[in-house]
Amino acid sequence: MAQRPQGLATIAVHAGVPEGGNSPLTTPIVQSTTYRFESAAQVQAYQRGEGGLFMYSRDENPTVRAAEEAVARIEGAEAAVLFASGMGAMTTALLGLVSAGDEVIAASALYGGTYKLLRDVLSRFAVRLRPVAPEDLAKEVVERPAKLCVFESPTNPTLRIVDVARVAEACRKARAVSVIDSTFGPPVLQHPLESGVDVVMHSATKYLNGHSDHLLGVLLGARERIEPLRLLSRRLGAAVDPQAAYDLLRSLKTLPIRMERHCSNALRIATWLEAQPAVRRVYYPGLESHPDYTLARKQMSAFGGMVTFSLGDKERAFRFWDRQKLIARAASLGGTESISSLPILFSHTGYSREELARAGVDEGMVRLSVGLEDPEDLIADLSQALG
Ligand SMILES: Cc1ncc(COP(=O)(O)O)c(C=O)c1O
Repeated sequence: MAQRPQGLATIAVHAGVPEGGNSPLTTPIVQSTTYRFESAAQVQAYQRGEGGLFMYSRDENPTVRAAEEAVARIEGAEAAVLFASGMGAMTTALLGLVSAGDEVIAASALYGGTYKLLRDVLSRFAVRLRPVAPEDLAKEVVERPAKLCVFESPTNPTLRIVDVARVAEACRKARAVSVIDSTFGPPVLQHPLESGVDVVMHSATKYLNGHSDHLLGVLLGARERIEPLRLLSRRLGAAVDPQAAYDLLRSLKTLPIRMERHCSNALRIATWLEAQPAVRRVYYPGLESHPDYTLARKQMSAFGGMVTFSLGDKERAFRFWDRQKLIARAASLGGTESISSLPILFSHTGYSREELARAGVDEGMVRLSVGLEDPEDLIADLSQALG
């Protein structure tokens, strides 16, 4: 694992930026699909892997490379590969790490897109899915080993915290590859590679880019683990656009400071929600009432910007949802603006009753991605929508 020689805020501002001489202060956007060669000998030098040469932007691009270097430094990883979306990253990770006949242990509380990829697509290629409750992952991996274990922490939408070091250790013992989707816990909040996880994935569409304007994904880890996935990404083609990579680089500079505000706003809102008679239950790992509060305190430096709460039934949740004025009714999360979604209509649509129960999703749930607004204004909106 790569060392972080400076503080995260310093790295976030300076990583991936050209250095020295008369260089620009920001990273140039190389908006070209292809690159001119001087000679056949230079093509051969490129094919031998000599540095500083480029052929085609599905394979590599200087702006994308700079953004990869920045994300890797912030996450403390040796290597990173960027994708055109989080699902592009997850698809590449799974296709690169499992083969026909393999079994995958997947936490039952998993992002719907990843779960459906395993259930509906990889199953057609004889990859078997074994859903397991997040708290049982470590035990299950040791008792009934599988090729790969994929999980999230915090989970979506119940915000359960998985003991990352324990699961990583169990995977190492059982020779399973551990993959964490760390989208809800960006690098400022937790460091899964330091806990021993093999591959970290982010939907960089969310907090890393943070402005709801680009789809992006990333895989991070040791060089020997990530380079084969980079080669596979060239075959699969979910390449990221240089403009999106530039905007990611720019957004990363404010990631630590944005996360501070996301987290303080979320804690304030979760605390307020817990005191409202109309709210049946609040799920936020920074509340003492959360079942994983102690583990969250040990594993995370702050508790994230997501707050889920239940109003008990679908009718109440829908009524509340329709009445919001400032908070946007939309999918996704991690942007500057607050967004709320209804898990049964968004991330968990199409789940059977059993699948919803296994994922801990009830019909009265509302999931809030708390943005950077003044918390008083958000609370005023929630208050009027609760009626
Ligand atoms: C936890 C999590 N993982 C993965 C994804 C997929 O990422 P993308 O939408 O960038 O493909 C999402 C998207 O909502 C997500 O919330």
